[in-house]
This record gives sequence, C-alpha cells and structure tokens, in this order.
Amino acid sequence: MALIPAAGGGCGESSTPSPSIRSPSPANSDVEWDSFDPQAYVRHNYAVLRADDREILRRTRDFFAETTLSDACCVDVGSGANLYPALSLLPIARTLDLCDWSASNVRWLSTQIASYDELWDPYWQVCAEHPAYSAVTDPRGRLAQVGRVLRTSVFDLPRRAWDAGTMFFVACSISADQAEAEHAIGSFLHALRPGSPFVVTVMLGSRGYHVGEHLFPAVALQRAEVVATIATSAYDLDVHEVQPPTPLRDGYLSMLLATGRSHG
Ligand SMILES: C[S@@+](CC[C@H](N)C(=O)[O-])C[C@H]1O[C@@H](n2cnc3c(N)ncnc32)[C@H](O)[C@@H]1O
Repeated sequence: MALIPAAGGGCGESSTPSPSIRSPSPANSDVEWDSFDPQAYVRHNYAVLRADDREILRRTRDFFAETTLSDACCVDVGSGANLYPALSLLPIARTLDLCDWSASNVRWLSTQIASYDELWDPYWQVCAEHPAYSAVTDPRGRLAQVGRVLRTSVFDLPRRAWDAGTMFFVACSISADQAEAEHAIGSFLHALRPGSPFVVTVMLGSRGYHVGEHLFPAVALQRAEVVATIATSAYDLDVHEVQPPTPLRDGYLSMLLATGRSHG
C-alpha cells in the first residue's frame, strides 16, 4: 500500500515545508517529481508485506487469472517504486511496460526489472499461491525478459495500445486537483484496447504523503466519484474497499480497488 504518512505527518498538515511543492494546491506540473526518493518510498510502504497489500494483491491476482488472457501487451502506469502490480501481470504478459514520469523512479524501475530485490519475494509468494502464477518458475527472470521502463506521463499515453493494465495509487496521488485525477483515470482506461481487463487502486480521502523529507500532494477522492469516473470508460466493474489495518495510519480513509474491462 502506498501513501502511508510519515510519522507526524498526514492529512497535509505537516509543519515541514517541502521543496517538492511550490503551490498550496498543486497541479501535477507544479510538483518536482524527480525529487521522489524511491528507496525511502519502498522502505516506508513496502519493506514489510502488510495485510492490506496482501488482500489487494490476492484480489488482483485472482482477477487476472480468471481472464485466462495470455501473451498480452501489459502496462502498469505510475509504477513508481512498487513492483507488485507488475508481478500481478507477469503470467499473462508477452510485454510489460512500466511507466512513470519521475526520473528517479524510472532509474529505480530500470534497476529492479533487471533483477528485483528480495524484498519483493513475499509479494510473489502471494501470487504463486495461484497455479496460474506458480507456473512462472522464475519470476525475476521473466520480469527481466518482458519488462520495459518508459518515462511517460499518464496524460500522454497512446490510445488503445495495451491489452491489460494496472494503475495503483496514482490518480489520487499526483496532484491536489480532482479534475486531474479524473483525467488520469480516463487516460489510463483509454490507453487499453476495448475489452482489456484492468485494476485501478486509489486512496480515498487522502490529503498528501511524505516520501523522505518531501511532501507530495493528493486529492481527497470519494468512492462514488471514483466509481462514476471509472464507469464512464469501463464495464463489468467490481469495486472493493480495503480498510487500513490500524487507525494509526491517518493520511487517508481507505483504499478502493476496482477491476473491470475498458471500453477502449
Ligand atoms: C503515490 S505514487 C504510486 C506509486 C506506485 N504505483 C504504488 O503503487 O505505490 C505516485 C506515482 O505517480 C508518479 N507520477 C506523478 N506524476 C505522474 C504523471 N504525470 N504520469 C505518470 N506518473 C506520474 C510518481 O512519480 C509516483 O511514482
């Protein structure tokens, strides 16, 4: 799970001024995304496999396994420093594009797809509880083989270019502007060919998150508006809310996981 507020932070009320944001209500282009520290992000969010991520990964795994898709052109948008969406696409992928706009995240992703850190092994073990995934005997090698990292903005994705996709904790977390969140969701769904299965996750009620010393913006999305935005460009929608495991993590209300098929 992404976006756990750093200690003392949360809800955008940090007293630490951030050099990453120059505006009180920043748009995506106002943010210095190259200052995103992937190591700090991973340490804070993914060093230990948490119950909420496990649940999201299981649901994502089961969804893609049920599609019986294979040999697909897959994409993960706004990959940042999280490999588990990419792992969830591995069994069905002929190619797997990991896209992000931050140069620091792109560098991190390039290193990780060549041979990912052991930290991600427990995430793959969750995947491998399903036979469609355990059939991939060398996930590290497979990701190196099919993975490709692209420095691309979610707002510049080509239309109808991929057969399956994921976008985790991006729409809510790339600006403080709700219209940009909706634009990001639409852009992602239109980047998929008609009928393509997808998984989108967002934080609900998020107001910002720390990565190391830097504060990054978020928009406090509500469930109904996220579902309505996705439904505009998709069908067979299934929506599930995952609650944070402990109230100590106070930067958001819950996580929403949506699966479906894109209209293209
Ligand atoms: C909260 S992080 C989510 C990372 C990861 N998907 C996860 O699940 O933890 C938001 C990500 O969006 C990326 N990002 C910001 N603006 C973007 C844009 N215009 N296009 C694509 N990615 C962007 C950031 O670099 C960052 O990696």
